Amino acid sequence: MSRTVYVNGEYLPEEDATISVFDRGFLFADGVYEVTSVLEGKLIDFDGHAVRLERSLGELEMPMPMSRDELLEIHRRLVAENGIEDGMVYLQVTRGAADRDFAYPPEGTRQTVVLFTQSKPGLADSPVAKAGIKVVTLPDLRWDRRDIKTVQLLYPSMGKMAAKAQGADDAWMVEEGVVTEGTSNNAYIVKGGVIVTRNLGPEILHGITRAAVLRFAREAQMKVEERAFTVEEAKAADEAFVTSATTFVTPVVEIDGVPVGQGAPGPVAQRLREIYLEESRKAAV
Ligand code: PDD
Repeated sequence: MSRTVYVNGEYLPEEDATISVFDRGFLFADGVYEVTSVLEGKLIDFDGHAVRLERSLGELEMPMPMSRDELLEIHRRLVAENGIEDGMVYLQVTRGAADRDFAYPPEGTRQTVVLFTQSKPGLADSPVAKAGIKVVTLPDLRWDRRDIKTVQLLYPSMGKMAAKAQGADDAWMVEEGVVTEGTSNNAYIVKGGVIVTRNLGPEILHGITRAAVLRFAREAQMKVEERAFTVEEAKAADEAFVTSATTFVTPVVEIDGVPVGQGAPGPVAQRLREIYLEESRKAAV
């Protein structure tokens, strides 16, 4: 059955939904996006994603195309119309369609707004999270404004392919000897009971899941250090894990072929995953 998607004010069957070939998202990656998880038909951390969307747009001198309430309404309608129990809502806003020119189009050019759903039954019980994932390290060759959630995802996509070619699941990116983040997630290690993750700055995306997980960790009296860590430190850690809207908290059991800790999901990552899922379900809208 075809999905209903949202394009510029209309709810359409996916095969009838189109955008212009002149869209700046297509021609210049001139757009930003958000991914919000759905569990039991409800949106996880919607407010966090809406706030970050507004910030990403602002950093690129684009306005919010509509109010947060209107955005929420579209998310909810798509989840309902497509019968999504577990899955995600993808949202993209671009600077719109205009003749190809490096300069931004005139003010008032209509932004393109697209939303669609993807169903992922059993999202929270993924076998991957139970087994943990293997990562390889790669140089971080992205631009310097990774705090803006732009649709320039070619390098992360190449990173994922490079990981798969080496028999791993994902890549952690490294710059000046320290880990920035995963291709599509934030990266953490645990050593001596302390959770370490890269401090916020333009070098990483400010994960919405990261913010929630660190809050829950601190509330549970766990020690958190927000600082850069090296690949060597990570390989010698007791545990490692990643967070993102679609993977929640997922243990990392191997880095560049070296087992992390016991080479199995560790207690801190497993506990944080439980707390995150429990609290997020309670707060879902
Ligand atoms: N990716 N870092 C990067 C580079 C990301 O692309 C993502 C999210 C994160 C985690 O952010 P959050 O917790 O807000 O999802 C960190 C999404 C899920 C994606 O591109 O599909």
